[in-house]
Amino acid sequence: MSKYKFIQISDLHFSRIKNFTSFIEVAKEKDAPHLIDKLVFEDFKRNFITKWGKKLIYPSTFDSDVAIALLSRLHGIINNFDVLVITGDIASTGDDDDLRIAREYFDGKIPKNWTKAKNNFHSLFKHGVPIITVPGNHDRYHDFLLNPGFGPYERFFGMAWDFDKKVSNYDDGCKNKFYVKYSILEKLDSCLIFVAGDFSLRHQIYAEGFLGHIGQGRVDSVLQGMVSVTNKIRSNIINEGYKKYAVVWMVHFPPCFPGVDSGLKLINDYDLLNAVKNTNIKLLLAGHTHEPLWYRCPIHGDAHIFSCGTTSGVDVNNSNYYSEFYINVTGPDEYEFNAECYELSVDAKNKKIEFSVMQDFPAARKNKSFNFSIANAVANINNGPSSDILKS
Ligand SMILES: [Fe+2]
Ligand SMILES: [Fe+2]
Repeated sequence: MSKYKFIQISDLHFSRIKNFTSFIEVAKEKDAPHLIDKLVFEDFKRNFITKWGKKLIYPSTFDSDVAIALLSRLHGIINNFDVLVITGDIASTGDDDDLRIAREYFDGKIPKNWTKAKNNFHSLFKHGVPIITVPGNHDRYHDFLLNPGFGPYERFFGMAWDFDKKVSNYDDGCKNKFYVKYSILEKLDSCLIFVAGDFSLRHQIYAEGFLGHIGQGRVDSVLQGMVSVTNKIRSNIINEGYKKYAVVWMVHFPPCFPGVDSGLKLINDYDLLNAVKNTNIKLLLAGHTHEPLWYRCPIHGDAHIFSCGTTSGVDVNNSNYYSEFYINVTGPDEYEFNAECYELSVDAKNKKIEFSVMQDFPAARKNKSFNFSIANAVANINNGPSSDILKS
């Protein structure tokens, strides 16, 4: 028994406001900065004249029809999988209202204004399949300027980010225990291990550039926590007699994502790549960019990075996606895997929204130009760890 299957969803962006596209997205995608003034005013009116309240800028949210189609699909397929993995931005903001709606979605509680049809969904947990998460930048927004910081995420999703279902854990001896969690799935003679790290900004002062605090992450001492927890679990499970195991890392921000906007970048991402290489990680799951992409680690060809795409977020350019993974564990840190990406499709005739497999994933993305250079990567590694790592 050494075969595992899991589902990855990401960037759900659940909110008390459904089907909303932020002015920032519209202005950026239409390449029309002159629209910003007008749209800022529109947002201002929405936020202060309506009951939406609290935010000067409100980020884009989610498509309620897609969210319902997704929940229905998950109920249909989740029994065939060992775990459901969520790589961040579960909620649109870190406000209690948004996080509560996100949490209750998995319990099958759908707000009345999402659909006119009567949908009595059951809780996804009734299937007994674990659901594990890592927070994203949106889940950490805590004030009217979308500034980042440690907020109420853990109150809704548990200290171990597993909905308080005792699937995941954290190392009490790790000083980054608030930001690093792990889950161990065991079968007869093998284990599948997930180590999750939260690289959301701790404070807006760690951002780069104007409005960088909204979309950026930063690799800091949390990385050391991921490395030490990974190595500790490896030696523990070997002592327990397991001869076969696979380690998968999960984060929200994909490192060196090709062409990523500077406002969405992961600062110090080469440190993460370096750790992926030195810790012999073969699979890194991420989200954040809202675009699905399967690419090789630029400094370690054996490592694969998956960015899921947004599963239910409203995005002016992209569709919605989720992925299914198949892993065959063959030895200690030895495994083969494959993945399929599913893209939203609309059946207009039958008025149905479905997810169907993308035949050309990841080949369709191969022509996209990468904005990093191997020379830069090597220079970064030769220069050693960044100052953030050294400080910790
Ligand atoms: Fe997102
Ligand atoms: Fe994000």
